[in-house]
Amino acid sequence: MRNDRISYSQCWEDPEVLQAALMVTSGDSVLSISSGGDNTLALLSKGPKRVVSIDLNPAQNYLLELKHAAARQLSYAEYLEFLGVRESTQRVDIYKTISSSLSAEAVVWWGTHTNLIRNGIIHSGRFEKFVRFFARYVLPYIHSRKTITSLLSSSEIEAQKEFYETKWNTALWRLFFRIASSRFLLGRARQPIMFTQADTGGVAEIYRQRLERHLRTKTVRGNFFLEYNLTGNYVHGLPPYLEENCYQSLRKQDKDSLCIVSDTVLEYFRSTPDTTFSAYNLSDIFEALSDSEHESMWQEIVRTAKPGARIAYWTNLVPRTIPITVAASVTDEHLFAEDLHAKDRVFFYDTFKVHTIVK
Ligand SMILES: C[S@@+](CC[C@H](N)C(=O)[O-])C[C@H]1O[C@@H](n2cnc3c(N)ncnc32)[C@H](O)[C@@H]1O
Repeated sequence: MRNDRISYSQCWEDPEVLQAALMVTSGDSVLSISSGGDNTLALLSKGPKRVVSIDLNPAQNYLLELKHAAARQLSYAEYLEFLGVRESTQRVDIYKTISSSLSAEAVVWWGTHTNLIRNGIIHSGRFEKFVRFFARYVLPYIHSRKTITSLLSSSEIEAQKEFYETKWNTALWRLFFRIASSRFLLGRARQPIMFTQADTGGVAEIYRQRLERHLRTKTVRGNFFLEYNLTGNYVHGLPPYLEENCYQSLRKQDKDSLCIVSDTVLEYFRSTPDTTFSAYNLSDIFEALSDSEHESMWQEIVRTAKPGARIAYWTNLVPRTIPITVAASVTDEHLFAEDLHAKDRVFFYDTFKVHTIVK
């Protein structure tokens, strides 16, 4: 298990879509993929009984631990400064004020990665470094700051479509997008396992079509994902875990309501009792599983789920259907999920899925 590198320092799955699907409240026991930690923290802020946040990469969990500690111990202004949303030269000093609340392993890991703290931990992932490089050093040669700001301010769909077609979708933009979203480059920017099951060629064209559909149907204003993609930081919008109400809520909760596990979900399930969880945030982890692992995963989800438990996940390049062996216990909430996917602010997924467990 490689633990020396953060692949994702943010979550690239829409937290509002996720919360609308899982409807997490105080009675819930949640299993959530850690990734950048953002969506685990957003779900935790709803006050469930417990969140088990899991990632096979321990570095992702050290990141979640540090974001959680920062929310609980820093003022709101320091929280945004420390994480990297606001400019700062003090981050390493701020880290020293909160490090004593971290696990021993996290302290050792962050002790050898102070450069990531200095640069702002939300920018520390391999994927975010890739996105920022293009946003800061390549995109300015393709579109002026004024053009980028105009797209990001669009609040009316017909005007946005017109702007995209006449001002944004130039030959140079298309060339840039084809290179930046090629399988070759994305295979290096995303975690390497994420492409292992995808035999799709023409990845750049698939993503181009998805982006185009997105820009023709959803207004961009307030879309903090696109803002980060195009500027390399959040300027006008913030993910929920960085908003003040969520920050306040994280400070009120029992610290122990978050349990962080470094393992694969499947291995963790093998030691999990029956009927444990009522909500599952599975990111798009099915993307990297073989067919037999996918089936074993669903058998374990059904076994570990409470009756009525909700499961949410995204698919990207690998289509998935519920294995026949568990189909009788799993309801596909496809109309609900399609409605939510229509509101999704991340353009690169194929589908969003919501299921309910029947027992
Ligand atoms: C599934 S990845 C996806 C990120 C992004 N949506 C993408 O498509 O590139 C998010 C996180 O899930 C973790 N992960 C992937 N498969 C896992 C598994 N089977 N068990 C636990 N964590 C897993 C990765 O280490 C990573 O931090």
